[in-house]
Amino acid sequence: MNAIEILVKEHDSILQMIEITQLILTAEDETKINLNHVEEIVDFIKKFADKYHHLKEEDVLFMEMERQGMPRQGGPIGVMLHEHDEGRAYIKLAEESIAKLKLGDRTAFSQIKENLMNYCTLLTNHIFKENNILYPMAAQLLPHDVLESMSVGFKESNLSTPDNEYVTKYLKLVADLRSIYVK
Ligand SMILES: [Fe+2]
Ligand SMILES: [Fe+2]
Repeated sequence: MNAIEILVKEHDSILQMIEITQLILTAEDETKINLNHVEEIVDFIKKFADKYHHLKEEDVLFMEMERQGMPRQGGPIGVMLHEHDEGRAYIKLAEESIAKLKLGDRTAFSQIKENLMNYCTLLTNHIFKENNILYPMAAQLLPHDVLESMSVGFKESNLSTPDNEYVTKYLKLVADLRSIYVK
């Protein structure tokens, strides 16, 4: 698998988790929502979608695109970075609301829902843009040897998130939650 294929495959897992999140949060009876599952999803977003996946983009792919002359500011890379930050802000707010809910504030649920649903919409659009615009641009722009060697760079950007642990733990979580929520 080349670097772009690795990133697209990770998008597939993130999109599956987004579908699960939307199904959980739009349940008719909100009192029956399993908060443990919501917390596991937030953990997946922070560790797999953000640390494991977005760091590959930020520390390796976007850097290589800049090295080939694509500016960071005022272009697609700047937009993608801004969206990563927007996502982080939604997740931070969702986490704060989960903490409030656990302290007994039932009104916090609507904030959890709002922030996670906003995150799902943001990331769905973000992934569409990367799969259909940014990654094809990268495939055209980057020399063949760079495209091949980026997967080595991915391993370095993921030193704090070892492949075997992450892939096993988080892909299993997606599969487990899918078997519960996706009919
Ligand atoms: Fe991204
Ligand atoms: Fe991405």
